[in-house]
Amino acid sequence: VRLHLAPKPLLGRRALVTAGPTWEAIDPARGLSNRSSGRQGYAVAQALAEAGAQVLLVSGPTSLPAPVGVERVAVQNAQEMLQAVEAHLAGTDIFVATAAVADYRPAQSAAVKLTKAELGTQIALIPNPDILAQVARHAQRPRLVVGFAAQTHDAEALAAAKRQEKGADLIAVNDVSQPGLGFGSERNRLVLIGPDGRLDLGTADKLALARALVAELARRLSS
Ligand code: CTP
Ligand code: CA
Repeated sequence: VRLHLAPKPLLGRRALVTAGPTWEAIDPARGLSNRSSGRQGYAVAQALAEAGAQVLLVSGPTSLPAPVGVERVAVQNAQEMLQAVEAHLAGTDIFVATAAVADYRPAQSAAVKLTKAELGTQIALIPNPDILAQVARHAQRPRLVVGFAAQTHDAEALAAAKRQEKGADLIAVNDVSQPGLGFGSERNRLVLIGPDGRLDLGTADKLALARALVAELARRLSS
């Protein structure tokens, strides 16, 4: 007897993933950004595609190639990222926000490069939209809304608070306080925080963790 396990549990599902940093221009040569290689998000997009989902990756600037079978929309800043996400939300079953979105952007962005004297030492900032929170409260809310949180301390408590504030179903926490994990590294440690407690996905390379996360998402979607 051959046991046949469904290899593609997300066949027929649509997934939308945000990844990478955003770039908030001050002028054509300068800007504000966050620390993110995009690797964990690209791995999530790949794992979703492997599981059979139709995947759209909305990505800020990274040096990574789009995973095989994943459609990518490239954006620069948070407002463009929100626009691209909202334009593709209809029919989406799973939304995963891995992007390191800049919390603020310069109140003004110059079309030409400023001299350092013109730039000065103070830059007025205004808040960016919270893409995850907007998706979670959207009329076309996907069935599963998942966020990420990179924390240096009190990781799980802070992530649980973010889950509630933003209205997400799950938050995947990575503790970036340990050397060799998280930012810029191949490996990560992920703990999934849900309404019913925590699930430790362990410490592994980012693709293995993405596959473990996607297996859990598929399980939740089918139950
Ligand atoms: N996020 C988002 N849009 C933003 C900020 C955050 O979609 N403007 C998403 C991230 O992609 C991530 C989750 O929200 O999935 C948590 O991001 P984080 O920066 O930890 O949350 P903040 O509420 O911005 O908290 P903090 O004050 O710690 O930066
Ligand atoms: Ca933030």
